Amino acid sequence: MAIVKFESELEVLHINDLDLEDQVICKAATKAMKNAYAIYSNFQVGSALLLDNGEIVTGSNQENAVYPLTLCAERVAIFAASHQYPNASILKLAVATSHEEKGEEIPVFPCGSCRQVINEQEDRRSNSIEVFIVGSDEKVYKMASIKAILPFAFKKSDLK
Ligand code: THU
Repeated sequence: MAIVKFESELEVLHINDLDLEDQVICKAATKAMKNAYAIYSNFQVGSALLLDNGEIVTGSNQENAVYPLTLCAERVAIFAASHQYPNASILKLAVATSHEEKGEEIPVFPCGSCRQVINEQEDRRSNSIEVFIVGSDEKVYKMASIKAILPFAFKKSDLK
């Protein structure tokens, strides 16, 4: 029997060491947390996208008394961008949270559903989306594509 191994690469940077454009979307994601409607989880998430037309589109998590109806910040931003700018590609996506455990900031990565939706956007335009994970300690995890954290993704071509 064979064993399949895979590797991922994430860069860990201080927000001030990012390019200016990257800092702008990371800060926009952090600012977007303020618009979260997260009265059940009290866990605010913000997301910001940079599109190839130069627009920045933001989103935040939106919860509901029927818990499963909640929509994550990433998908709020992606679907808004896809609707408002149907011909634009997403170049960069930032997600910001503030989550501490035992006094230590821990990074919060996109949920599986959001990874799948981000992957669809990459495949739709045949371009990789740089993803930035931002915590409140100003440490940023950067990856060149969502595929770094979604190996073996289910995709459109699997349906053919
Ligand atoms: N949440 C996001 O907004 N993005 C994620 O990638 C993970 C989870 C939100 C959904 C819900 O409002 C809260 O975080 C707790 O699950």
